[in-house]
Amino acid sequence: MPLSKMFSTLCVMVWLVVLNTPVQAEDAHSYARIKQVSTPHMELDLTVDFDDRKLRGHVTYKLARHDTSTQLYLDTNELVIHKAELLIDEQWQPTKFTMGDIHPSLGRELIVDIGPSAAQVRIHYETVPTASGLQWLTPEQTAGKEHPFMFSQSQPIHARSWIPIQDSPALRLTYNATIRTPEGLLAVMSANNSLSDERPGEYHFSMPQPIPAYLIAIAVGDLVVQEISDNVAVFAERYIVADAAWEFADTPAMITATEEMYGPYRWDRYDLLILPPSFPFGGMENPRLSFITPTVVAGDRSLINLIAHELAHSWSGNLVTNASWRDLWINEGFTSYVENRIMEALFGRERAVMEQALGYQDLRDDMARLPAKDTVLNIELGRRHPDDVFSQVPYVKGQLFLMYLEEKFGREEFDVFLRKYFADFAFQSISTEQFKHYLKRELLDKKPLLVSMDKVNEWIHQPGLPDDAPRPTSDAFIKVEQQMQRWLKGGQLATDAWTTHEWLHFINNLPLDISAQNMARLDQEFQLTQSQNSEIAHAWLKLSIIKNYEPARERLREYLLSIGRNKLVSPLYRELAKTPDNLKWARQVYEQAKAGYHPLTQTVAESLLYANQ
Ligand code: BES
Ligand code: ZN
Repeated sequence: MPLSKMFSTLCVMVWLVVLNTPVQAEDAHSYARIKQVSTPHMELDLTVDFDDRKLRGHVTYKLARHDTSTQLYLDTNELVIHKAELLIDEQWQPTKFTMGDIHPSLGRELIVDIGPSAAQVRIHYETVPTASGLQWLTPEQTAGKEHPFMFSQSQPIHARSWIPIQDSPALRLTYNATIRTPEGLLAVMSANNSLSDERPGEYHFSMPQPIPAYLIAIAVGDLVVQEISDNVAVFAERYIVADAAWEFADTPAMITATEEMYGPYRWDRYDLLILPPSFPFGGMENPRLSFITPTVVAGDRSLINLIAHELAHSWSGNLVTNASWRDLWINEGFTSYVENRIMEALFGRERAVMEQALGYQDLRDDMARLPAKDTVLNIELGRRHPDDVFSQVPYVKGQLFLMYLEEKFGREEFDVFLRKYFADFAFQSISTEQFKHYLKRELLDKKPLLVSMDKVNEWIHQPGLPDDAPRPTSDAFIKVEQQMQRWLKGGQLATDAWTTHEWLHFINNLPLDISAQNMARLDQEFQLTQSQNSEIAHAWLKLSIIKNYEPARERLREYLLSIGRNKLVSPLYRELAKTPDNLKWARQVYEQAKAGYHPLTQTVAESLLYANQ
């Protein structure tokens, strides 16, 4: 071969290698080999069996073949697979499948023979009652007491416990679903929910925008609907639907404000589903239908930053998605930033800064508790379960990073950047490396001396916070601190104008050597033990544990038995586990509470209460 021919062949080979080099690292939390064969569309057909606590049915995938592989790799966790079929000449024909070894956090790969040409594959399966992504509640565990309830929580890697699926956020799919329930119950999904009050027991859904598997969601219960506006409604059990519609009445204005800042809302309707109190999160941004804890229905709209947060995910997360769970900060950091911008737009700077300051304190607490390596934004997860390293780091450190950029480049310029970012990456999943390239090109290089790439790398790849990180300080909180000092010396507190935020700052910053008399004095004057605000009660109960303040014990028990939101109960168990007597008491309460807790809350609480056995 002449030298020039060899050279050009070599060039072509190098080029091919470059082309085929994955732009992003593989997802260490999925068995799916999406670069070989992927599944751009799914049809679900499921029956909800409350007696057996199982979903049963089948899932059908359209196949997109990217090479000559004859096998499809799916993720499963504790699923019972009955049969796999291929659509050949318009007939469903059985095909072979095998399953891999069980990995404690990743589950089990399912490998289906798809031959060289089939365009569709169908898998018949059922779930187990302990599926990590589902919670089944008995009628007694609901507010209405008459009907059972079930719901999913797929993020981060639990979709595979109720659907055999390519469970990586790097892949998007559209879906249709048919869901059969007992008559009288309503099924809703992260899709086009109907506002009709008929309850025939068979429901059809379609989600025409491609979404990652972790956003596939379902809930079934005795639900009613109340509309807030043309494009926003609340689904909930009847006891809370009117209160929730009042609490979240600002949602339409939040949508408008976010559209003005970051471009159009791309998902048609935005509805809210209020879950039972055992819902393990504050909220979950399931597209078109955010899942919301009832513990934020406080009666005074003080905790609605949660709605701003879940809504913000319609841009940061659902539109532009983290490619792997190592990149979670791309979802949560951006969302915390956007959430706070929405709160500022609707309620002004003072409230927004108070919320920043509360988040900053939570971040400092988490950083003090975590090993340094887990305080890095682009976290090294290995194959650890993402749930095991959940913390405020991707949220608040990520938010502070964006606040830092905003501060350096100015709000106007940074808003233009973000708006373009959401448009450029709409309906894509991106890695931290991709974001860094984009940031350099679209922002840093345009004003070269403002922020260096070294600084960006420090934010993204180093533990802790950079020395010049923003430090949110709230004037209102400084006044709270001044009052606290006077009060500790015997003065009076003037709390009439205090918001929930000021109360939280006050309680969280009381000196840990506060006297028993002062605890009692506070409680008598302000009824903190009886506070019906879930966040204030949480802060007070945590302090009560540290101070062994006995009058709060019964309330603490009741709180732990009635709420299952991980963020509200786990810190209390963590505190209780610190002394032998409290640990013993906590285990008793937990054993009683356990049946009502979601699998996630169970896992976290057990790791705190039974860690050293
Ligand atoms: N998407 C998250 C919940 C989540 C994150 C589930 C990672 C599983 C893995 C949701 O948007 C969220 O962040 N909820 C927060 C809201 C808060 C920061 C306002 C919550 O539940 O506390
Ligand atoms: Zn979030």
